[in-house]
Formats: sequence, C-alpha cells, structure tokens
Amino acid sequence: MNFLIRFLCVILRVIDALATPIYWLKSRGKKRAVPTIKDGLLKISATELAEKIRNRELSSEQICAAYIKRIKEVNPLLNAVVEERFESALQDARNVDIYLQSLSEHEELAKTKPLLGVPLTVKESCSLAGFSLCGGTVSRAGIKADQDGEVVSKLKSSGAIPLLVSNTPEICLSWESSNFVTGQTNNPYDVTRTSSGSSGGEGALLGAGASLIGIGSDVAGSIRLPAMFNCVFGHKPTARTIPIKGHFPYCTDERYADFFAIGPMTRYSKDLKLMMKVMANESLLPVLRLEDKVDLSKIRVFFMEEESKSFVSPKVQDEISQAIRQSVEYLKVRCNCEIISDFKFTELKNSCEIAGSALYSLDDIPNLLKADNQNLALELLKSVIGQSNYTFNLLFFYTLQYMFKTFVTNEGYLKKNEYLKQLFTEKLGQDGVFLYPTFTTSAFYHDSFLFKSMGVSYLMIFNSLGLPATNIPCGLDKNGLPVGIQVVAAPYQDRLCFAVAEELEKCFNGWISPN
Ligand SMILES: *[C@@H]1O[C@H](CO)[C@@H](O)[C@H](O)[C@H]1NC(C)=O
Ligand SMILES: *[C@@H]1O[C@H](CO)[C@@H](O)[C@H](O)[C@H]1NC(C)=O
Repeated sequence: MNFLIRFLCVILRVIDALATPIYWLKSRGKKRAVPTIKDGLLKISATELAEKIRNRELSSEQICAAYIKRIKEVNPLLNAVVEERFESALQDARNVDIYLQSLSEHEELAKTKPLLGVPLTVKESCSLAGFSLCGGTVSRAGIKADQDGEVVSKLKSSGAIPLLVSNTPEICLSWESSNFVTGQTNNPYDVTRTSSGSSGGEGALLGAGASLIGIGSDVAGSIRLPAMFNCVFGHKPTARTIPIKGHFPYCTDERYADFFAIGPMTRYSKDLKLMMKVMANESLLPVLRLEDKVDLSKIRVFFMEEESKSFVSPKVQDEISQAIRQSVEYLKVRCNCEIISDFKFTELKNSCEIAGSALYSLDDIPNLLKADNQNLALELLKSVIGQSNYTFNLLFFYTLQYMFKTFVTNEGYLKKNEYLKQLFTEKLGQDGVFLYPTFTTSAFYHDSFLFKSMGVSYLMIFNSLGLPATNIPCGLDKNGLPVGIQVVAAPYQDRLCFAVAEELEKCFNGWISPN
C-alpha cells in the first residue's frame, strides 16, 4: 500500500461526499432517458439477424434502415456520433441483398461471412478508412483514417456493414467521453450522466438500442466501464489475441499490447463469441477453442465483492455487491457450478498501486503536451479557467501518470503484478472463473470523474494482468441506472467468460431497454 495514493483516495472520497449533492441539485429536473424502442427489428441478436439475412427472411437494407432511423432519433440526446456513412451503408446493404438473391447455396456463408449484412458501429480510434480519426483533439480536427484498422478490416471481410464512427475522450485517455471537437456524450438511461469512456460513444449507442454490435478498445477499463454504464456486454480479450494494428493513439513500447486490447461490445451475450471468432488472430483460434461447448457444472467459481474492507479503498455500491452474491447463488443452484468460498485473491487490495505502476511504467504513453511542447501545470491552470485546448480529464490522466512515475512505481509492485498473474493463471486453470465488481458505482454525473476515479483499479488490474474480462449487465439500480459485474478467466479461456455471460443474461435479463 502506498501512503500517498491511499491518502489521495480518502481525500477524493471526502470531496465526493461533499460534491455529490451539488451535482444532484444541478441536474435536478434535467434527468431524461432516450425514447422507448418501437421497432421489433432492433431487438434481435446479431447471431440471429445474420442467419435471417442469409436465409432472406429479412433484408440487410431493412435492418440497416431501422438502425439508421433509431440513431437519428436518439443521437440528438446522446451526441455519440462523430461521423456517419448512412447513405453508403444502405448501398452496401442493397448490394448484400442482391448478392444473396443470386446465390443458390447459403451454407458456406455462415463460415466465410458470418456477419454478412449486419450493421456495425466503430469506436473512432479503431480507424475506419476515410472517416474521422482526430481523437477528439483540437489540433487534429479534420484528420481522417487513411486505412482500416486491422480489426475493422476483418469485420468488414466478414460482411458487417459499418454505419459510423463514435465518440471518445481526448485521445481515449479518460473515462468520460467528452472532448472539444465532438463534445460530450450522454448516457441513454439519464442524459445528466456520462456514458463513460473511452468507448463511450459505442456504449451509449448500444445502450440506446441504436447499435447492435460495436468495436471498443481498452487500456484501463475502456470497454468494460462503458459497457456497464450502458447495460451491455463488453469483452476485453486475453492480451495479444485480437490484433491492435491501426489504433490511434498507439504506443511504441513493446509491452503495450500486454495492457491494451481491442474487443467486442454487444447487446446480446451470444454475439460476443461470434465477434471474437472474426476479430481474433486466426493462428490463436485453436488455443481459444471458442467452439468448444462449456459444461457449466464443471466450472469452479471464485468471487470477491470488493478489493478490500479498508476505508482507504473506494466503497462498492450495494446493488453491485448484491449482483455478485446473486450471480454466485444462480450459478450454484441453476448450473451446479462449484463455488469456492474459502479462497480470496487478497493481493487485489493493492490493485491501484500494482496496475497504476504497471501501466504508467510504459514508455511513450501518447503525450500530446510533449508533442506540442506544453507544460502540464500551466495547462491545468488554464484548464480550470476554461482557457486550455486540452480537456481537464486528459490533463488529470497525465497528472496521475506523473504521480505514479514519481512517487509510486517500484519494482515491488511490478513483481506483485507478475505474482498475481501467475496466481490467477494457476487458480483459475481451464475451468475456473472469477466474479468481481466492474466498478464501484453506476454511471456518475458528467465531469465528476475526478472524485470517482479510484474505482478504476477494479478494471485496470485485469489490463496489467492481461486476463480476459467481460462486463455482464446485472439490471438497474434504484436510480434506473445499469449495474454490472466482471467475469474473469485465465489467459486464453475467454470462452468461459462468454459461457458465464450467456448464463447470467438469463438471470438478470441482460440488456434492458432505457425508459
Ligand atoms: C498472431 O499470432 C501469432 C502467434 O502468436 C503471432 O506470431 C502473430 O504475429 C500474430 N499476428 C498478429 C497480426 O497479431
Ligand atoms: C487552441 O488551438 C487553436 C487552433 O489550433 C489556436 O488558434 C488557439 O490559439 C489555441 N488556444 C490556446 C488557448 O492555446
């Protein structure tokens, strides 16, 4: 435990307690969710849609048109879209329908083009050729991707049709999707709250039922937190299983791909596996064994409701601890899983120090200030009076980085990281999963990340450990906001995360439409 970090944690908890009523007052009367979904076409999983399109029960054009209509309906409330390609997408869809009419045999298509005709949304940073790649940075406004990112290209080859690129924080380095180019993305369950980040545009569109499957990226929780805040599934795969080429920003440190991952975000649990099969590095498919059936009655379940009981750790919201207990009970009674109650990963109490040290020890984390020759302290001051071109959240991220590099990071924590990785790998093996809160609270008010930031240790630790982790939506809290838990597995056992997600979707009803 690092004294400075824990002291800061306590201070932030106090500020949080004082600030929350002010935020509450400020947002009073402004709470609003996106309108209810009327079109039943928007409530079919990608797995089923793809099959119906192949069988010509539904046309790709009709599906894409339904999604485009929904996006146009909700985006004025959400502000999640950076740039769209609706006309081109409809043309792509018509081409798919014509192509299918000309085919007599569709069997092979399920293998070669499993997502044929299914609409897809793409986080801006993942690079869709010809579309914005400015990363929400004023000085990059107007910059376009000259090529598809590797994963975007794989999904296109599988037949998916990209509709748009979606919003992120400035160069993805925050947990609130707000920047000075596109502005702030709102939460579909309550627009006074953040949709989180960095895959916050994806999260908001999915939660609103305006997207079905999306691509996100995650260096410190950026897939799983927006997934939780918007009531959808989000999977951070085992490190180095999905190619990350073409992502902006990029870091040249050899160890970057141990932390940073691109992964699927979906409204229906079974689509995670479908997407993962397309997105993963083909040479790893035999190791991932995504097609192997998982017998849940042979699965061992480890769980923890919080990092530690200590006051210096952030507190977990009741509904989230409850969701852990309810999941454990469900897996025990309904699925006959073996529940391991007498072993805890106690070293997780140092998650913040361990994960922070590991992440911030990377060389060459993209630093706009250095690139532009600016001073952090000066920009922070300018930011407070609204005179900086950089968002406060980005500057805050750099402040944390500076603090960790200067006062926290040491060999001890890096060793603990290796130790924990080994421990998880051994304990979970090929038949164990670990249930853990995704984050400490449901979606917070806009611009309050500063006080809520300590909870990200729940997410970041699985980046620094390189383990696969999925957010599973677990219903709504008393304010009507989504809560969720993570299911974690040993390296390359992503299929266990998917199997548990599919089971717990039955328990908690998975994605719940806002309103
Ligand atoms: C795919 O995985 C193999 C084996 O780990 C590796 O050698 C190769 O570089 C990977 N390809 C990509 C595009 O990541
Ligand atoms: C912000 O960026 C714009 C465009 O690059 C520039 O004209 C302006 O001077 C910058 N403002 C500050 C406060 O640095």
